[in-house]
Amino acid sequence: MGDEIFMARALELARSAPFTSPNPRVGAVVVRDGAVISEGVHLGAGSPHAEALALLGIDAGGATLYVNLEPCTHQGRTPPCAPAVAEAGVARVVAAIPDPDERVRGAGFNLLRERGVDVAVGVLEDEAEWLNAPFLHHRRTGRSYLTLKLALSLDGRLGARDGTSRWITGPAARGYVHRRRLEADAVMVGSGTVASDDPSLMVRAVDAARQPAALVVDGSGRMRPDASVLTRQHEVIVATQPTVAHERQVEWKEAGAEVLLIADRGRGTGVDLDVLIREMGRRGMTEIYCEGGARLATALLARDLVDRLELHHGPVTIGDGGPGIGDLGTLSMSGASRWELRDTQVFGSDVVTTYTRARA
Ligand SMILES: NC(=O)c1ccc[n+]([C@@H]2O[C@H](COP(=O)([O-])OP(=O)(O)OC[C@H]3O[C@@H](n4cnc5c(N)ncnc54)[C@H](OP(=O)(O)O)[C@@H]3O)[C@@H](O)[C@H]2O)c1
Repeated sequence: MGDEIFMARALELARSAPFTSPNPRVGAVVVRDGAVISEGVHLGAGSPHAEALALLGIDAGGATLYVNLEPCTHQGRTPPCAPAVAEAGVARVVAAIPDPDERVRGAGFNLLRERGVDVAVGVLEDEAEWLNAPFLHHRRTGRSYLTLKLALSLDGRLGARDGTSRWITGPAARGYVHRRRLEADAVMVGSGTVASDDPSLMVRAVDAARQPAALVVDGSGRMRPDASVLTRQHEVIVATQPTVAHERQVEWKEAGAEVLLIADRGRGTGVDLDVLIREMGRRGMTEIYCEGGARLATALLARDLVDRLELHHGPVTIGDGGPGIGDLGTLSMSGASRWELRDTQVFGSDVVTTYTRARA
């Protein structure tokens, strides 16, 4: 029970860092005689690791270190943690989960045990898995973790017949979207949403220390060079097909965007989204936050490319005729995709429910 209390504190510290990609979110707590004597949190690539900060300037001899991820063994931009923990005289390390990064994978625990440190693994492991789900997925598969966020009416529509969808939810839920954008490496939309809503995909309404990349999927060259997303002074990637007119590609480049050419999987299927997600993973992007619209969301769901579904339900009914999730190829309930509820939050009259794909 005591272990869980201190691990919960390590997780709380880890959660306080909004964006650490491509690194994990890590908190560390040093405990002696049942009392916390020091704490540390990793704030992102290039800054000290949580364990190093927690051990800084204290006598950790005989103490217990709680950390939500296995201490690392490799020299990166900062020195490895596991040897430093052993050298500090820590008697016991309690970790939530192993680090699947190929440079660690149990080597941290092995080193600690070889140096006589008592190691316990698995305390609050479900919470630790959820906190770092994008990082863990990226390290295990090499692919970016894809979150699909949709604002839905009570009757499951994404917008009205005339293409308008602003606003289904209120300001508090939309503020949450900006916090989620801040946690992602890239915010993605389809060219249909650029045409109808002209979003800039910037993080607003929160103290934004950084901006995620904007990722537009446009298979036919539809996006105009004066689209708001192309006027932002931050990274923009347009994923398109090699068949798109050269002049259009030049216009996008002149507007400051990177043009990423990805062929389709067959006639009329659009940009190969599987290849796109793999390419973003190769670039070290741990999470892509996709905000629609209807066709892109349908394609992602139909191809089983969504790792997390974030549904923002507003108290409005719209009825048929507007954009909505289309054909997913489900012929019978036995073939329906199942999802596991992970989180529910209420923002005024709006409800945000978060699901992960239920794996057999
Ligand atoms: N409620 C919400 O959360 C929400 C969010 C966003 C948008 N919306 C609403 O949804 C509507 C826009 O939806 P939409 O379906 O027209 O546009 P969309 O899903 O944003 O974009 C779809 C377009 O993306 C391009 N594309 C390229 N590769 C693709 C692929 N593999 N799969 C799917 N699309 C691919 C295609 O256009 P090309 O011909 O250019 O290849 C396709 O028409 C608007 O009414 C907007 O207001 C609602």
